Amino acid sequence: MSSTPLDEFTDLKLFITGPTWLRPEVRQAGCLPEFGHRDSENVKRLGPAMAHLKTLAGAGPEHEVILFNGSGSTAMEAAVRSLVADGETVLHVVVGAFGDLWRNISLANGKKAELLSFAPGEAMDLDRLDAEVARLRPAVVAVTHNETSTGVINDHLAACRLIRGRGALPLVDGVSVFGGAPVDLAGSGCAFYASATQKSLGLPAGFGIAVVSAEALEKAGKVAVRGYSSDILRQIERARKNQTLTTPSATLANQMAVQLDYIVNQEGVAARFARHERLRDQARAFVAGLSGFDFFAPEGHRSPTVTAVLAPEGWTMAKLKEVKEAMRARGYLFDPGYGKLNQDLEAAGRRVCFRIGHMGDMQEQMLGTYLAELGEVLSRI
Ligand SMILES: Cc1ncc(COP(=O)(O)O)c(C=O)c1O
Repeated sequence: MSSTPLDEFTDLKLFITGPTWLRPEVRQAGCLPEFGHRDSENVKRLGPAMAHLKTLAGAGPEHEVILFNGSGSTAMEAAVRSLVADGETVLHVVVGAFGDLWRNISLANGKKAELLSFAPGEAMDLDRLDAEVARLRPAVVAVTHNETSTGVINDHLAACRLIRGRGALPLVDGVSVFGGAPVDLAGSGCAFYASATQKSLGLPAGFGIAVVSAEALEKAGKVAVRGYSSDILRQIERARKNQTLTTPSATLANQMAVQLDYIVNQEGVAARFARHERLRDQARAFVAGLSGFDFFAPEGHRSPTVTAVLAPEGWTMAKLKEVKEAMRARGYLFDPGYGKLNQDLEAAGRRVCFRIGHMGDMQEQMLGTYLAELGEVLSRI
């Protein structure tokens, strides 16, 4: 018998920071029938799904949802292309690799992008943010809700209030936390909240998600060159019909319809957020019980979806790769840390870190089993 590529694929349990483990029902929903994306069948799927996304966002009547074909960065690029006009400044508040990513997206689009940066592992400091917004008077300010590279969660609502109070438009990257923690956008002044399907929503990658405000749509009308699929005004016309601008993955749309119904009507939004807090506490207790390991993120800013762990003095990236392979042999995909961050830490003679992803549909029992195995590997390596 000839072998097929399927013989080579291993069904590892993912404990990385996205993509995440999928519930069996979500995998099965990937086999549901194709449909026409301009047909009434589309509305049956994406109508409820888009309404559920608004619920998860705690969105107000001023907010609408757009689904972009692509991923989180697609939504982030649309935000700066649609909302930063020629000659305007966008201030990027950077607490890690994904803040840098958004700034690089702005620079790649020729935007005047200023930088307020914090050391890796630190959270955004609101006083410094206020002083910088007052000094630079940017039209737009972009912040990261949950910095996946360092496991830091920022107070996005306080940042939005502050930015709005200074007359600028707040943009928020919530790619790795949306669906795992309250976002509470109603009345926040948030103009654009960006996310994606493959993290805390427990779905495969394929859609960038944006929750946009009426104010953002009005501002986009004053930005001359917005591109095509990055144009939120073009996108919103389709979104208002519960459609995507270009042909979506019907597979993902089917899975999304099934999964968002589960999140909102079966698990329940509050219960989902509470489960993520318990997962964070479980990861925290594990790290606290290890000798020589520490948290990378400061107390009060530890993410409910990802925990970054400082390895003991003398540990190297190579050693974390060994942990990864040892965990692979046990059927798990371990996250040996964000590559560029660890390279910088190692080059500076500082301690490297690894991450424990605990987002999406992970249950406490699954995390418990994984942490027990990881504890054994860490003690033997
Ligand atoms: C916080 C954050 N922002 C942005 C991105 C980029 O998202 P995507 O890979 O979906 O384009 C990621 C991906 O890991 C992320 O964690």
